[in-house]
Amino acid sequence: MSGKNYEDDIRKWWDSASSYYQEEISGDRMTDVNYGPFGSDEKELRLIGSVRGKNILEIGCGGGQASIALAKKGGVCTAIDISAEQINTAVKNAVKNGVTVNFMQIPFSSINKLNKRKFDIIISVMALQYCSDLDRLFKRVKKLLKPKGVFVFSMEHPFYLLINPNNMEIEESYFNEGVKKKKEVWPDKSVHYFVYYDRKISTVVNSILASGLKLERIVEPLRFKDKVWGTGYRKALVNRIGPTIIFKCRN
Ligand SMILES: C[S@@+](CC[C@H](N)C(=O)[O-])C[C@H]1O[C@@H](n2cnc3c(N)ncnc32)[C@H](O)[C@@H]1O
Repeated sequence: MSGKNYEDDIRKWWDSASSYYQEEISGDRMTDVNYGPFGSDEKELRLIGSVRGKNILEIGCGGGQASIALAKKGGVCTAIDISAEQINTAVKNAVKNGVTVNFMQIPFSSINKLNKRKFDIIISVMALQYCSDLDRLFKRVKKLLKPKGVFVFSMEHPFYLLINPNNMEIEESYFNEGVKKKKEVWPDKSVHYFVYYDRKISTVVNSILASGLKLERIVEPLRFKDKVWGTGYRKALVNRIGPTIIFKCRN
């Protein structure tokens, strides 16, 4: 599922949406890793364990909330994102929180630039649905991890994406994998293209296994039932299919 590379469209969308996203959805969650909308957190799930003194890489860090939380717990954090706006916010968030995180504007397709580092932990929160080539990314993640290193990532639950939250009807075929490019006209009349990749759960699992990483756990959490989070989430759908799925892998 590599095909045309839409990274430029994705970067432009996130640069434009960054301030809205930070205000509406991302919010102030810098005390623990929160794995996603209505998902759960590290305090409850204990997927990565103790981080004191560990070298940690976050990929698709957005406003840096997860890395900042881990830095507060003693992690030595590097975090990358494709969007300059998201990285700018992350840098400001780290300063506000009095921690140091090495933030860099690097896309998934170039994480091999970090090849000389070896990480104990690599995490990603709700970002890999924007990655065009998971096979390549997971192989690179494996190379960046120390032996027995942990890789935890969350993404949009593929079932959640199939259903129209307004009428609860199945709108997409689960089998229609690949890039989705949606035209959006924002209230100021500007036109934007939202791009993401639909994948079956088996496709994600098979990419993990093909990379040589070991899959230890899949978590499909539903916490904060009935809470309203941003305008894009409808309780009726959220309470039946949680929007977040989490994969824990080991090198
Ligand atoms: C839904 S946000 C999640 C951000 C953050 N992890 C959080 O929990 O708020 C997805 C993030 O992935 C980033 N992203 C999308 N495509 C990327 C790519 N090709 N390389 C690196 N980051 C990317 C976006 O810029 C955005 O910050």
